[in-house]
Amino acid sequence: MPRYTLKVNGQERAVDVAADTPLLWVLRDTLGLTGTKYGCGMSLCGACTVHLDGEPIRSCVTSIVEATRGAITTIEGLPPVSEHPVKKAWVAEDVPQCGYCQPGMIMSATALLLKNPNPEDKDIDQALSGHICRCGTYQRIRLAVHRAARSLNAPLGRRQPGAPPGQKGPGGPRQNTAPPAAPGAKGQPPPQPPPQRPPVERPPASSPLPDDPDGGGGVL
Ligand code: FES
Ligand code: FES
Repeated sequence: MPRYTLKVNGQERAVDVAADTPLLWVLRDTLGLTGTKYGCGMSLCGACTVHLDGEPIRSCVTSIVEATRGAITTIEGLPPVSEHPVKKAWVAEDVPQCGYCQPGMIMSATALLLKNPNPEDKDIDQALSGHICRCGTYQRIRLAVHRAARSLNAPLGRRQPGAPPGQKGPGGPRQNTAPPAAPGAKGQPPPQPPPQRPPVERPPASSPLPDDPDGGGGVL
């Protein structure tokens, strides 16, 4: 079998595989990098996404020959959770459910933020449109990408401990620290009597109670 040299996660790796072996199987079976998942094998689900020179690619349909043309990064090649804003945001937003699709999602989200540090919802949807999550984590993924973007855009060294990402100073929105002025004090309007509530209308004693406490109908 021919020998190929790949650059994977910053290291040169020599592999002896058939020329038509997809990169996915080289990563998983030959190199033991099983963080990259197999979903469809047809470039339809995104589970196998890795980076080739920073661009997200589907490793299930990338030949080993193509893969030798650039630097491959897999989910194992990204920094650990404590140091990677996207992984950190994924944990903070509690994104994964079964987790199977998530390495691919994270690789595409990372590639998006590398190009566009302030993505809007439509940019996120577009970047992840080729990914399928059977657990339906799409909303949390959006939140996590926005969170990662805020943390990436926070001025380094100016955030105080406890401040949410993207915000300077101590945590929480900026507070008005002056005590509120008493009604009727100088410059303040005089105190007003509390508004009168309209009388409560009660149903006649014979009205039946609804079955659903929320008042809605059942939907199967
Ligand atoms: S396994 Fe590659 S896109 Fe589904
Ligand atoms: S978290 Fe289960 S498939 Fe996406």
